[in-house]
Amino acid sequence: MLKLKAGKKSATSLPKLKVPAHVAIIMDGNGRWAKKRHLPRFAGHKRGADVVRDCVEASLDLGIRYLTLYAFSSENWKRSTEEVSDLMSLLRLYLRREIDDLDKNGVYITTIGDRSRLAPDIVELIVQAEKKTQNNKKLQLTLALNYGGQAEIVHAVKQLVRDAKDGKVSDDDINEECVARYLYTNGMPDPDLIIRTSGEKRLSNFLLWQAAYTEFAFLDVLWPDFTKESLIEAVTDFSQRDRRYGAR
Ligand code: IPE
Ligand code: IPE
Ligand code: MG
Repeated sequence: MLKLKAGKKSATSLPKLKVPAHVAIIMDGNGRWAKKRHLPRFAGHKRGADVVRDCVEASLDLGIRYLTLYAFSSENWKRSTEEVSDLMSLLRLYLRREIDDLDKNGVYITTIGDRSRLAPDIVELIVQAEKKTQNNKKLQLTLALNYGGQAEIVHAVKQLVRDAKDGKVSDDDINEECVARYLYTNGMPDPDLIIRTSGEKRLSNFLLWQAAYTEFAFLDVLWPDFTKESLIEAVTDFSQRDRRYGAR
């Protein structure tokens, strides 16, 4: 699937890579990309949504099993009504346009985050996409929508307290594995690699619990300029890291 120009690194020509099972990406820099070109922010978001396609293809080729994309944070509602509405329209467009191809390529698509504030038609598109792709095993594509790490932990704690009241869990049962089961990411491995584009070096409330031992790649490239090669480079760099998890 990767169509690379001769001379460039391709997934197949690379030496044996330690490929991360789970890559999560903070897709940042759409606004700055547009500003540099004297275009409206929408143009940056549109290009950003198109780039997701290349990113998914590259993930499939590299053999990544979980790709989690931060598409809309619980704090992004603070943006203008126009920008929020543009982002939601692009999300609709993406879901309508890509599902068949994702399905053909063995991708299971799902989301993390609080769906209750999303428009009902978007929730319906997500439910349909999940249903259609639920048996696909090659790659799990998870879109973080109205997602915030702190809100996720609050949501988990609330449910845990309810279950404790109902006698379904006792305080002795509560450990790291138990808490993880109450998070939106239940059943997924923690991210091995988090990539953030646009030169910013912060998590912005992404996967706070899950990032305990994650490796980070902060790239200067703005998200709309992200290419398959950008992903290959980040994975190649990851491949050379020594992860110790606190052990010697
Ligand atoms: C990322 O690009 C897209 C979302 C947060 C939805 P930005 O819109 O944050 O772009 P910058 O950071 O302003 O350049
Ligand atoms: C993080 O980017 C959220 C997404 C990429 C969806 P932001 O642009 O919202 O983050 P801050 O405001 O720079 O921290
Ligand atoms: Mg930003």
